[in-house]
Amino acid sequence: MKKIFSGVQPSGSFTIGNYIGAMKRFVDLQDEGDCLFCIVNLHSLTVPKDAELLRQYTMQLAAMYLSIGIDPNKSTIFIQSQVPEHAELGWLMQCTGYIGELERMTQYKDKSQGKEVVTVGLLTYPALMAADILLYNTTHVPVGEDQKQHLEFTRDMAQRFNKKYGETFIVPEPMIQQLGGRIMSLDDPSKKMSKSNPNSGSYIALLDEPKAIEKKIKRAVTDSEGVVRYDKENKPAVSNLLTIYAACTGDSIENIVKTYEGRGYGDFKKDLAEVVIETLVPIQENYKRWMDSPELHTILKNGAHKAHALASETMDKVKRNMGLVTL
Ligand code: TYM
Repeated sequence: MKKIFSGVQPSGSFTIGNYIGAMKRFVDLQDEGDCLFCIVNLHSLTVPKDAELLRQYTMQLAAMYLSIGIDPNKSTIFIQSQVPEHAELGWLMQCTGYIGELERMTQYKDKSQGKEVVTVGLLTYPALMAADILLYNTTHVPVGEDQKQHLEFTRDMAQRFNKKYGETFIVPEPMIQQLGGRIMSLDDPSKKMSKSNPNSGSYIALLDEPKAIEKKIKRAVTDSEGVVRYDKENKPAVSNLLTIYAACTGDSIENIVKTYEGRGYGDFKKDLAEVVIETLVPIQENYKRWMDSPELHTILKNGAHKAHALASETMDKVKRNMGLVTL
């Protein structure tokens, strides 16, 4: 039986990149193993946050998890800060990892570049992420491609720890999709689609209104060839749009390309907007209901309770193996 763990930061809005690269898969994986889906609010603190906003974003992400189809009867949904073992094992992982390893992380380099001050947490972020994963005997971690390096670090931490203190952790496998693991920006296909891009036209947010989606797709950059075909090297923008189309419909790239043979980008973009809207509107409707639902708190409380029971078992073992006295 697979043990699946993943997390998303509560940072306001989510893009269709988050959805295709990771969140959509969470839903499918629920029938393949024991799943835990975490709202990693401690990770959000690595870049200073307003307290009230963080509270709101946390509840919004919980509602979003449920709206995309994560079923609380099948999966455990919980808030990271409600299970103190995350921070606790995070510290132990900081004492297992090396500064050089953390300084080499591309996400750290990107996020710290040009900043006047950088928190210690931004550097040690992957140690906390390793703790998240290793606490639950996780075998599989569905993530987008941008998390690959963090997953490699997690695997190194597990192996290093096991070697030093005896078999303690399972070495987890990343699950990164070949198609959709990295959805690119609509205005520049060399950049990852990201909610932190100041140009909101560069991403489709999961809560974008249909009109906005149409407009953004209409304006998305393409190329001068005018032929709908998949060629990541030479036609990165069109290939990215095809990937989004395929992810939303479940259809193969080959079939989609056939459908648009002899037709231009105009038709293709119009249909793409339609399939994206058809994908997102039901999620948006669910979201409104979940945001108003008193059940949200109960689900999160139960989730934290379940996660805590599992995490504390692992921590007992870790402490014993490391020589941390438990009386
Ligand atoms: P976060 O919150 O930045 O993103 C959540 C998930 O969305 C994926 N993603 C994308 N996938 C494809 N194309 C894109 N343009 C795109 N943008 C984002 C991310 O890869 C991620 O899977 N460090 C993590 C959160 C985390 C975590 C964990 C994940 C903390 N602990 C333990 C897994 C396991 C992060 O910041 O994701």
